[in-house]
Amino acid sequence: MASPAHVLTERLQRALGAAFGPEYAAVDPVLRPSQFADFQANAALALAKRLGTSPREVAARLVEHLDVADACDAPVVSGPGFVNLSLTPAWVAAATTALAADPRVGVPLEEPQVVPVDYSAPNVAKEMHVGHLRTTVVGDALARTLEHLGHHVIRQNHIGDWGTPFGMLIEHLLEVGEESDEAALLVSDPNAFYQAARAKFDADTDGTDFAARARARVVALQAGDPETLRHWERLIALSTAYFNSIYDLLGVTLTDADLAGESTYNDELPGICAELEAAGIAEVSEGALCVFLDGFTGREGKPVPLIIRKSDGGYGYGTTDLATIRHRVRDLGADRILYVIGEPQSLHLRMVWATARKAGWLPDDVEVVHVQIGNVLGSDGKILKTRSGAPVRLRALLEEAVERATALLVESRPDVAEADRAVVARQVGIAAVKYADLSVSHDSEYAFDLDRMVSASGNTGPYLQYAATRIRSILRRADDAGTGGLSSVASAPMVVTDEAERALMLALLAFGDTVAGVGATLEPHRLCTYLFELAQAFTTFYDRCPVLKAEGDDVRASRLALCALTLRVLEQGLDLLGITAPERM
Ligand code: ARG
Repeated sequence: MASPAHVLTERLQRALGAAFGPEYAAVDPVLRPSQFADFQANAALALAKRLGTSPREVAARLVEHLDVADACDAPVVSGPGFVNLSLTPAWVAAATTALAADPRVGVPLEEPQVVPVDYSAPNVAKEMHVGHLRTTVVGDALARTLEHLGHHVIRQNHIGDWGTPFGMLIEHLLEVGEESDEAALLVSDPNAFYQAARAKFDADTDGTDFAARARARVVALQAGDPETLRHWERLIALSTAYFNSIYDLLGVTLTDADLAGESTYNDELPGICAELEAAGIAEVSEGALCVFLDGFTGREGKPVPLIIRKSDGGYGYGTTDLATIRHRVRDLGADRILYVIGEPQSLHLRMVWATARKAGWLPDDVEVVHVQIGNVLGSDGKILKTRSGAPVRLRALLEEAVERATALLVESRPDVAEADRAVVARQVGIAAVKYADLSVSHDSEYAFDLDRMVSASGNTGPYLQYAATRIRSILRRADDAGTGGLSSVASAPMVVTDEAERALMLALLAFGDTVAGVGATLEPHRLCTYLFELAQAFTTFYDRCPVLKAEGDDVRASRLALCALTLRVLEQGLDLLGITAPERM
């Protein structure tokens, strides 16, 4: 299904070639939405100089050669040399009928790439915080979207499952017992478990030399002592149960099969260091093995190294990430790697990438992208914290969102049974939080405001869910009125009788390009904006154009088909964002 933008671009390029010679046939016609027409082509302004004439003259010659009579009203040259193009209602209606017959509703299937997507990546025995929430939600939307565009997405949950704190965590687990209530905290309140272990380590007053045992435990863990590894695995299992409970609540697609934590690469770290040292890429400086890279300097121009082996022999976060990138290229066959990670880790990533390029582990034709995740702030404009200053617990936050959604539903739909309401409230509360993360550009900061998020008006998740349920109810009423079920109306030919119909159709026809745009720019907020505008176009249509009481069978059938198509696009779009619309609301 070619979108209007594609059809017009192709026609404009053909005209450019015919008017100015074949070397102009591939020039970008600079097609943009316009205030005065459906689109305007701005190419004439850029080409005038090259052609040695005025923009208006270029535009006039372009129009002379432009063959769009089947699709547009007569093109108009306006202003300094814009070519205004408006699609005829008949063409829009026919294109929309074809769109409705397309199972992919206009979304292209792209040349498949292998795309590892690194997202979520919480740390074992620690509570996930709002920052992890945001990488999880944004990463999941990108994974879903790229997959839908035909790519082979490989989800990589790079959890923090290794390091010195594990000595103290294992010792604490052994003391409280693996089956104890304290151990169960790892699943329900991991920070509490961590802090209890930390407190013992710091105080070390129980007379059993906890700190010394914890340190010995780290050594045993690193040496691969089987008994210690068994306890460590138990810790990981409890932590992943916690992560999975959050993923379940959120409706995130990550599973245990996507776990590829830091520890996965343990065996490779000595080899990574040896190879870099042998190649002269790393050198020992003050006892540590370091990579010095051009262009990475700190204060007073002092070079900042990527430390890959500390002076005590331990490996760091950078070493693991080098092994990780090598694995993704060499073993997974990556064409493009996404890191959906907090903005502060940008320097770290750039140093890892530069080192990997030097070492030959990251060839030039493999693209790496840091999808930077901005901070989530409280209403005071500072990093979101509880009143006591502790980081906000993710589960508590999600529960509160569901509670607020419940309160709103009690007010708006007192007739709904409590059990049904609980299901809907959960869908609405979760959608509210996820959509808030998705609808602003992923690298900007935003203030977490539950009241605004759960509101059913404005650019919110619940607003879009409500739009979908409203269309469902129209279609249900159509069913009851015997005008034919969804399947019989869905294929009816579309007709345009009102400008609002035409506007809604044009919006629907832009869905495929929007989704492709999210895949190219990795910006899910573009899809949010699109869906919000689509829902508004639907509201205007529904205000002006009676559906069930439409005059004439063909108009009613067309409008019902338009409702059904809008619902499909809304649902598909929300699904790519990881949001479900309740049956009723
Ligand atoms: N666990 C890290 C954190 O919580 C994020 C890991 C991101 N992925 C990576 N390959 N470094 O900040």
